[in-house]
Amino acid sequence: MSKTVLVTGGTGYIGSHTIVDLVENGYDVLSVDNNSRSSIGMLEGVEKITGKKIKNYKVDLCNFDETRAIFEENASLVGVIHFAAFKAVGESVEKPLLYFQNNMQSLMNVLQCIEEFGIPNFVFSSSCTVYGNPDQIPVTEETPRKQAESPYGLTKQMGEQIIEAFAASNKKTNSILLRYFNPAGAHDSALIGELPIDRPQNLTPVITQTAIGKIPQLTVFGNDYPTRDGSCIRDMIHVCDLAHAHTLALNYLIEEKNNFNCEIFNIGSGDGITVLESIKAFEETTGMKLNYTIGGRRPGDVIAIYANNDKARSALGWVPKYGIKEIMSSAWKWEQYIKHLPQHLSLPSKRLN
Ligand code: UD1
Repeated sequence: MSKTVLVTGGTGYIGSHTIVDLVENGYDVLSVDNNSRSSIGMLEGVEKITGKKIKNYKVDLCNFDETRAIFEENASLVGVIHFAAFKAVGESVEKPLLYFQNNMQSLMNVLQCIEEFGIPNFVFSSSCTVYGNPDQIPVTEETPRKQAESPYGLTKQMGEQIIEAFAASNKKTNSILLRYFNPAGAHDSALIGELPIDRPQNLTPVITQTAIGKIPQLTVFGNDYPTRDGSCIRDMIHVCDLAHAHTLALNYLIEEKNNFNCEIFNIGSGDGITVLESIKAFEETTGMKLNYTIGGRRPGDVIAIYANNDKARSALGWVPKYGIKEIMSSAWKWEQYIKHLPQHLSLPSKRLN
């Protein structure tokens, strides 16, 4: 049986870590990424870690003919893991049509090829954002999807619904939707990690960029929420734990352990941590003092969310190995490493044009 997996968005943050995990677990991997928001340099890091060269197709998945050509060339794929998408919440509010066009068109093209070429297994990168502002925490996979807080969130909700409808009509492909909580940290080698374009919006890169001096000061968005210290609560999941969940999801489908042809799993640590506690964890882990101030609430922020991950633990055998200390120390190691990266490796291609 073929062991070749097509990873879309393979040069992105989660995609690159997942390729490492797949290769380490015996899969052959092909990547497709147009590098519009990521650097091909990530695959050099993957190669250094795994000793394997990963082929990347520099294709925009919104182009159907070019996408189809990849499937035609590799018709015996064992599965597709679909990461490629835009993910900046703020940008999606400013440019909703860009998000709907890019995230939905690419998904439709990939699914159309999966159907045409009879690819048996599909894993989709979803998000806890589909829960909106939940009434009860922790959230289980049964927690209802509430109104999305942003067009980005809506693309994840629509993506899930499109795949569910696809699964209902197409019994040849089994799908898994992985709902990520807050991915953070980097590979322990510091050869791959998160490379935010422009000024980062997510908490961990803001923390490390503040510590290194790229950002003068971190603003905590609100300390008047009804939580234990007034700041929002999130579920930070180490990117390597998250990456491994994809390998386990694929194994689960290949071994036909699934009960339905579309299943959903929460991929979070199961622990809620506040923004202020995250900052403290960074300070304690690195021994540094972070320059931060308290600001107003960020529009669209959910007050508190963390995962019930029982289903992923029992069905997939997934056990998160890393905690907040490893998240902060690896993110910090990576931030120091990229300071010295040559520009052509560290910048998305659009910045070099
Ligand atoms: C959001 C999405 C999530 C998505 C992720 C990808 C929602 C509800 N969640 O996560 O689905 O996968 O973006 O980008 O849409 N914070 C500060 N100061 C900062 C930055 C962040 O206080 O400078 C706080 C935020 O207010 C929030 C927490 O840190 O309370 C986490 O923020 P962030 O890392 O941006 O992630 P989410 O908004 O949770």
